[in-house]
Amino acid sequence: MSKTPGFTCTACGAAHRKWAGRCDACGAWNSIIEEAPLSAGPKALGAKGRTIPLTDLATEEAPPPRAVSGMGELDRVLGGGLVPASAILVGGDPGIGKSTLLLQAAASFASRGLKCLYISGEEASAQVRMRAQRLGLTQAPVQLGAETSLRDILTTLDAERPALAIIDSIQTMWLDTVEAAPGSVSQVRAAAHELVTFAKKRGVAIILVGHVTKEGQIAGPRVVEHMVDTVLYFEGERGHQFRILRAVKNRFGPADEIGVFEMTGAGLAEVMNPSALFLSSRDAPAPGSAVFAGIEGTRPVLTEIQALVSPSPLGTPRRTVVGLDSGRLSTILAVLEARVGIPFTGLDVFLNVAGGLRVTEPAADLAVAAALLSAREDVAIPPDMVLFGEISLSGALRPVGQTENRLKEAGKLGFTQAALPARSKHGAPDGMALRELADLTAFTGEMFGAG
Ligand code: TYD
Ligand code: MG
Repeated sequence: MSKTPGFTCTACGAAHRKWAGRCDACGAWNSIIEEAPLSAGPKALGAKGRTIPLTDLATEEAPPPRAVSGMGELDRVLGGGLVPASAILVGGDPGIGKSTLLLQAAASFASRGLKCLYISGEEASAQVRMRAQRLGLTQAPVQLGAETSLRDILTTLDAERPALAIIDSIQTMWLDTVEAAPGSVSQVRAAAHELVTFAKKRGVAIILVGHVTKEGQIAGPRVVEHMVDTVLYFEGERGHQFRILRAVKNRFGPADEIGVFEMTGAGLAEVMNPSALFLSSRDAPAPGSAVFAGIEGTRPVLTEIQALVSPSPLGTPRRTVVGLDSGRLSTILAVLEARVGIPFTGLDVFLNVAGGLRVTEPAADLAVAAALLSAREDVAIPPDMVLFGEISLSGALRPVGQTENRLKEAGKLGFTQAALPARSKHGAPDGMALRELADLTAFTGEMFGAG
C-alpha cells in the first residue's frame, strides 16, 4: 500500500485511489474526501510475534466494580455505572448540553472519590471554571485542562492516572504523526484509536465528546463508533427544555436505555418520572391526541401522540412526522385504507410526539392509528385511556412485550382505561378497564362507531 495522499470515505473510512461521487464500500453519496491514509501497518506477520496467555471461560475473576456517579439517569444509561477502562462516546448537536452534562458528571464522580480529569479542546480552563461556578460545582475535585495536542494529553494522563478522563471534543484533538487538519477523518480516527488503546492498557475510563453532522451522525468516520464500548447520544429539540441521553450501543448494558434531563438555569436536572413530564403539557382532551404507553429501555414511559388531518390543496398531500418513523406512518395509513376502508387521500397528515421524544417501538402503532382516526373523524379519545399494540399488514393487532409494566405505569398516572391487542399476556391491574381488540376494524368500530 502506498503512503501517497489518497481519498477516504467519511462515512465508513474506506480508502480509495480516486475521488468518486459514491463510495463503493458503503454506498454513501458525496462522502469521499482527499486525505493521507493511515500507515499500512507491519509488513509481515507471524515471524516475531509472541504467544499470548490464554484463560478459559470458567476462570473465576470477579468483574471490577462499576463506579456510580449518583446521577441516577446517567448511571442507568451506562448500564448501572461506569465500567473501569471502558471507552464511551457521547454525541450530540452543538449547544445541546454535552459539556454541561459531562462537567456535572465529572463533578459527581469526583465528589464520590473518583479521580477525574476534564480536558477541553474547545474552551479555556477559565471558561470551564466559569461554567462550573454557574453550576455550583466549584467545590468538586475535578482537574481541568485545556489542550488539543494528543501527545501532551496522553503524557499527562499517563502521569496522573485518573480513573476517568473526559475529552471534549474528539474533533479538536490532533496527533502530530498524522498530516491532516484537526477534525478531519484521519485525525479523528487516529486520535480516537490512541485514546481507546490507552484506556484499555492503563485502565483509565475515557469519555469522548463528538459533534454530530447535519445528517445526525458523529462527525468523522463511523469507525469511531465501532472502536468504543458505548455510544450515547444526547438529543433534544431546540426550544424544549427536555434532553434525552440515549444509549445506542452498549457492551456493558442494555442499548435503547434513556436518561431524561431538563435544562435549567443551573444546569441539567434529572427527571425521575418522565411520563409525568411528557404528559404535563397536555391540553384539554381534543381530537387527534392519543396517549401511548411505551417502554424506553427498561422503563415504561407515557407519551402523547398528536395528529392533525386537513384537506390538502396539493396534488400530493403532505405527510409530516416529528419523533416517529415516516415509513411507519405510511404503512399505518395504507393499512387503514386497505383493511379498514378509511382513506386519507386528499388529506394532509401531520404527526408529532409531544415533548421532543423519539419513539421507535412498533408498539406505538395503535396509538398512532388512534390519533389519526380521532383527528380525521373529529372525535376525541377518552382522556383517561392509554393505547399500545403493533399493527400487522393484515390489520390484526399483535401483542407486544411488557404489557403489565405499561398498564402499571398508566395506572400510577391516573389512567383508568387501556386499549390493547387481544391475547396480550398480563396480570389484572386494579381499577383498569381493558379493551382487548383483535384487529384494527374492531378497534375503529368500538372507538368511532364506524368500520
Ligand atoms: P453546552 O454544554 O455548552 O453544549 P455543547 O457542549 O453540547 O455544545 O450547552 C450550551 C447550552 O446550554 C447553552 O445554549 C446554554 C445552555 N445552558 C443552560 O441553559 N443552563 C446552564 O446552566 C448551562 C451551563 C448551559
Ligand atoms: Mg461543548
